[in-house]
Order: sequence, then structure tokens, then C-alpha cells
Amino acid sequence: MDTAKAAAELAATHQEQFGEAPIGVFAAPGRVNLIGEHTDYAGGFVMPAAIDFATVAAVSRRMDGVASVYSVNFDKRVEFALDAVPPKGSHEWSDYPFGVLEVLRAEGIDGGLGAAAKQGGFSLSLFGDVPLGAGLSSSASIEVATMLALLAVAGVELPGPKMALLAQRAENTYVGANCGIMDQFIACCGKRDSALLLDCRSLESKLAPIPTNLSLVICNTMVKHSHAGGEYNTRRAEVEQATATLRSHRPEIALLRDATPADLEQWGHEMPLNVLKRARHIITDSLRAEAAAAALERGDLEALGQLMAEAHASYRDDFEASCPEADLMVELANQQPGLVGARLTGGGFGGCTVNLVEEQHARAFGDAVAKAYEQQTGIKPDVFQCHASDGAKKVL
Ligand code: GLA
Repeated sequence: MDTAKAAAELAATHQEQFGEAPIGVFAAPGRVNLIGEHTDYAGGFVMPAAIDFATVAAVSRRMDGVASVYSVNFDKRVEFALDAVPPKGSHEWSDYPFGVLEVLRAEGIDGGLGAAAKQGGFSLSLFGDVPLGAGLSSSASIEVATMLALLAVAGVELPGPKMALLAQRAENTYVGANCGIMDQFIACCGKRDSALLLDCRSLESKLAPIPTNLSLVICNTMVKHSHAGGEYNTRRAEVEQATATLRSHRPEIALLRDATPADLEQWGHEMPLNVLKRARHIITDSLRAEAAAAALERGDLEALGQLMAEAHASYRDDFEASCPEADLMVELANQQPGLVGARLTGGGFGGCTVNLVEEQHARAFGDAVAKAYEQQTGIKPDVFQCHASDGAKKVL
């Protein structure tokens, strides 16, 4: 997305919808995860990059005690009196902005937003081009863009990691998806031309620059997933079950990140097989994420590609979060010249593959994978050549 252009257009739309110019327009990106899947809520390592797909949010203040949100994508408006915002989401797109509102108010950030602010309120317009349900984190981008907009109404500034935690809380408590911190963190703190190795327990992060001769090619299987409820939460429960078993032997295992492959060797037989497999994926994928960052740092692309291949196999066989279409997409990628590494990215059960491809091969790579995928599945995939981008910011 050209955020400057999108922000100017959204400001004009906002003016038409609400009869007021916005006090600011903010943008927050989607993301792709290079490696480390479902490790975030286990306190482990992930290595995502923000991408140049984003949500923009335009906001103005009101004086009638109403919170009104307009989505350009759905051409729909949802509004509530500030003292009558539903306490929980209703599986609608508007859960994301209202979830953020509720979390900010619970934090005591309520200047102009609070239920008692009969004269406060806001109008918010949202537009995004992150494909929905494709594993590129459209939800975090909506949450974080909304957060910047509502913080501007309240006149409050927060550091990126704090915003990420609050946006995650909105998704956990209001939307009802039990996600970890990765998506919101990278939406807030992403850096251009770089992935971020994030320690999801301490929230310390370090840049993992992507070599300039590599392209990030994203291939969408077009198989949609949904995270509110369903398989994602089941996997998370299984991971917690494994943690509890290991903790009963080693009480210092607070999160699965604290466990080692040796712990699993020793006590894995006490778990149901599916729980053992989930734990094996988490423990090894967190280690792979750290190793991948080290490989990037020393420019060892062969090792990086190998780690991505192992990560895909582990996600498919142990975590059982892939799908036949994604496996095919990765297999097709492996047959193309110029590929460094390919795997299914994001929460799983559909969505996109991430491919690191030598720049000069990137276009032919995308064309060849798309063509073969369509021939074999009858589905026409979207293929995007992306760049690692900056995190959330004020645009206008
Ligand atoms: C989703 C969640 C993240 C993370 C990934 C899997 O994107 O929102 O917190 O768990 O799945 O790595």
C-alpha cells in the first residue's frame, strides 16, 4: 500500500461520511512470519517482518457521546453510545476497533473515550488492503491502526511494545481469539528491510536484516482460516497441557519455551501422542527461529533455507496445522530456481506461504508457482512480491 496516497483518500472519505476532517490518519502493517510458529504464546522466539500491506485509520473527535466506526471495505457503519458499547465482540469486523476501545478504557485511557464522557466520542474510518483470513495478520493491523487513532483522541502516547500488549488483549478478551503477541508486536515495531527476532517472553527484539538481493514472495493458497475459536485455540490448549505435564517434573518450566528436547524425551510418554507432537513442534521451532536469525546474520542462506524446510515439515507433521494446498505450494516452490526457503506462514490451516527468493528469479518464481498450483488445484492463487516495512505510524 502507498500509505500516503491511501491516507489522503481516506481523509476525503472520512470527511464525506462524518462531515469532519480527521485530526490524524494512521497506518499499521500486516506481517509475514519467516519462522517460529505458535511459539509466541509459549514464550519462545519468532522472526516476523512487517509487509507493505496495511490498514489506515482516520479519526475525528465528537461531542455527542457516540463512538462511530465506518469500514470502507465493507461500506458499513457501526456505532454505539460511549456508555452502551457491548462488553464482548459479536464476530463482526467491528469487534476489532471496539475491542481496542474497551481495552484502552479499562487501562484508564479515557480522555474523550470514557463512558462518562457524555460530550466526548469519536468517528473512525478504516480501510485496509491486507487480505482477510490469509494468515497475514489483517486483524492486528486493524487493531494497531485503531489504537494509534484512539490514543490521538485521548492525547496519549505509548511505546510500541505496550501498544502491542494492549492490542493483543483486545483480541484475547473482546474478539475471543487466544492469540500470542507476535502479530501486534511486529505491527507496532516492524522495521523496513528487516525481520525482527523477538523473544516473546521478555519482548526484547533484535533486527534480522533481510539481504537486499532477496525477495519476499508471498503465495496465497486462497484457503481461508478463522482464528476466533476453532483449531487455533485447540492447539493452544494442547500446548498448555504439555507444559503442565513437564512442569509437574520441573517446576521452573513456566512456559514451554523453558523446556528442552531432553525434557520431552524423558517425560513425553506421559502425554497423549498429539500433545507430545505439538510440544515437539514448539520446542524445536523456537530453537529454529534463533538459529535462523544467526544464519541470516552470518549470511548463510543455505542454512536458513534448510531451517525453513524443517519448520514447514514440523508444522505439517507435528503441529498438524498445514493443509494439502499449502504443502503443494511449498513443494512447487522447492522446484523453482532461486529459492532460498519456503514454508506455510501464520496461524495455519490455510493462508499463505512465505518464500525467500533471489531477487532476479522472483518474478519467474511467482509465475511458475501460480501456474502449476492452478493446474493442479483449479484454484488461482494470489502472489505478492513484498518488502519488509516499517511498523505503525502517523501518516497525516
Ligand atoms: C496467529 C496469532 C499469533 C501466532 C501465530 C502463529 O497469527 O495471532 O499470535 O500465534 O498465529 O505463529
